[in-house]
Amino acid sequence: MKAVVVYESLWGNTARIARAVAEGLGSGAQALSTDEASPDVMKDVDLVVAGAPVLGFSLPTDKMRESIGASPSTTPPDLSHPSMRSWLDSVPKGSGRFAAFETRIWWSPGGATKGIERGLARVGYEPLDHAHRFMVTGRYGPLREGETDLARTWGADLAKAMDGVTSETV
Ligand SMILES: Cc1cc2nc3c(=O)[nH]c(=O)nc-3n(C[C@H](O)[C@H](O)[C@H](O)COP(=O)(O)O)c2cc1C
Repeated sequence: MKAVVVYESLWGNTARIARAVAEGLGSGAQALSTDEASPDVMKDVDLVVAGAPVLGFSLPTDKMRESIGASPSTTPPDLSHPSMRSWLDSVPKGSGRFAAFETRIWWSPGGATKGIERGLARVGYEPLDHAHRFMVTGRYGPLREGETDLARTWGADLAKAMDGVTSETV
């Protein structure tokens, strides 16, 4: 099975979850930034797990990223990789499965995963599991204790679910 975990992450929380999901998936699954997950890498992918932070109650917009980048901050964001939105706009057609996740503050309305799910379904991927949420304890993080363990377990569950998909199609 070829599985990739793609993430957008400005302060590292989503990247940490992505790496834990990839560990759980095993079989050489890798966590990739939006520029590492190039169209070439996305060829013949059986499972794509994609994640982003919730910013301003939604999947970060490029406008929001610009305004974050323009504001002076003691916790500077990493804006060196394209947004998940722009990655979704250019991801090639696929025929594998997908699952989405977000990192967020527990009480916030809105979310990022609907936009991710829509983007992947639009290019032909089919859902494998419902979206997952991983919590931070403050505006910039850190992740709540135990979240990376939950992410690793989810990754392992996704791998098992993919075994079922593969045996169905053989
Ligand atoms: C400017 C800003 C806006 C945010 N807006 C929201 C929000 O609307 N809802 C939410 O749940 N969390 C919000 N957060 C918290 C982030 O979603 C959280 O820190 C996330 O884990 C960041 O992910 P990253 O470290 O991968 O960039 C916001 C954080 C910042 C700095």
